[in-house]
Amino acid sequence: MKVILHNSISLNGKIAGKDGNEDFLSEQLWDDVCSIMNRKGCIIWSKKTFEAVKSWGDDYLDKVKAKIILVSRKNKNCCGSIEEAISEARKLGFKEVIISGGSNFNKSIWEKKLADELILNIEPVMLGEGISWVEEGNFRVKLEFQKMKKLNANLIQLYYKVMK
Ligand SMILES: NC(=O)c1ccc[n+]([C@@H]2O[C@H](COP(=O)([O-])OP(=O)(O)OC[C@H]3O[C@@H](n4cnc5c(N)ncnc54)[C@H](OP(=O)(O)O)[C@@H]3O)[C@@H](O)[C@H]2O)c1
Repeated sequence: MKVILHNSISLNGKIAGKDGNEDFLSEQLWDDVCSIMNRKGCIIWSKKTFEAVKSWGDDYLDKVKAKIILVSRKNKNCCGSIEEAISEARKLGFKEVIISGGSNFNKSIWEKKLADELILNIEPVMLGEGISWVEEGNFRVKLEFQKMKKLNANLIQLYYKVMK
């Protein structure tokens, strides 16, 4: 099964403001994110990311038609690890799964080399404060550039393959 990490960042590598706010991202991005998730059929989120999306209102979550699998070490109703969530998606028969979370979650993905591909949206804004895309950790992973899409005049979407 192919695991695709999907994130949207500021030009200086933040995935959210200090308070978790993602209002620096273009409105149209959510539709693009949803269309990718819905096409693949399954999304793995950290519980915290799911709660963040829920807090934006029903309009946002209603657009997600993909099967949602949540990860949390504390919450017993979620998968206890990212590996468990990936295995759950595989058991459900998905051939591809999108995975998305915050900086600690993403660090685990790179440390354990759990992603096969990366889709990265880059919003041309510099954020002085905020949550980093990937927390510092013990990894060095090479990627191979695949393609770039321009989502609008300013917004770019990069596709990479993770070298294993
Ligand atoms: N722009 C984007 O692309 C993007 C994407 C996703 C999220 N976000 C934003 O990022 C923010 C959340 O990021 P964050 O850095 O604060 O949190 P995070 O890295 O998503 O981690 C939050 C929680 O996820 C669980 N978790 C993390 N790593 C785990 C692992 N290896 N195994 C099992 N569970 C793990 C833990 O849950 P428990 O504590 O419950 O165990 C942890 O507390 C939100 O504001 C969200 O809106 C942005």
